Amino acid sequence: MKYFLDTANVDEIKQAAQLGIIDGVTTNPSLIAKEGRNFEEVIKEITAIVDGPISAEVIATKADEMVTEARPLAKLHPNIVIKIPMTADGIRATSILSKEGIAVNVTLVFSATQALAAAKAGAAFVSPFIGRIDDMGADGMEVVKEIMTIFKQYDYQTQVIAASIRTRNHIKMAALAQADIATLPYKVLMDSLKHPLTDLGIEKFLADWEKVSNK
Ligand code: G3P
Repeated sequence: MKYFLDTANVDEIKQAAQLGIIDGVTTNPSLIAKEGRNFEEVIKEITAIVDGPISAEVIATKADEMVTEARPLAKLHPNIVIKIPMTADGIRATSILSKEGIAVNVTLVFSATQALAAAKAGAAFVSPFIGRIDDMGADGMEVVKEIMTIFKQYDYQTQVIAASIRTRNHIKMAALAQADIATLPYKVLMDSLKHPLTDLGIEKFLADWEKVSNK
């Protein structure tokens, strides 16, 4: 499973990229707004750090405006993926952009039928929002499993990004569901590397070593 970083914070991206396990980055208007910086400037900086798909989301809600906004954005760098919200207008825009060879990530997906429409429109990626489905009292990972089954059944090439990941368990469950990608907030990524028994083990190894090294 590929790991994308779900952030627009350049420092976090630099830190995480050093691990050598980051395959791409996803941003959204909320994440960009949090940084309080120029959108295009941030996106360009990210493309210089991570060599993989970098999702940048349009703000427009009408299909023709989404397409107009997407085209120059896609020209910023060959790795740019245009993030389009999952609406009827979004599907229209996705169909147009995909035919032009522009990679689209259909976002704010909460059901298998939404994902199916995105795949039919030629989306390169589809992003089901696990955490937000869980927040509603449903099972977000079930939706990922359904999408994976349908895409395999019909051989759709659209890659599934498990998004709105909140916990380490979400990462594990996304991998078990065979999601192509999990997009991770920096903190969740770093937490996923830790285990209290690892820390205790290191402590014990060093204490034992200390006993003999002083002799
Ligand atoms: O990739 C989508 C993600 O940013 C949404 O996460 O935690 O705001 O539901 P969250």
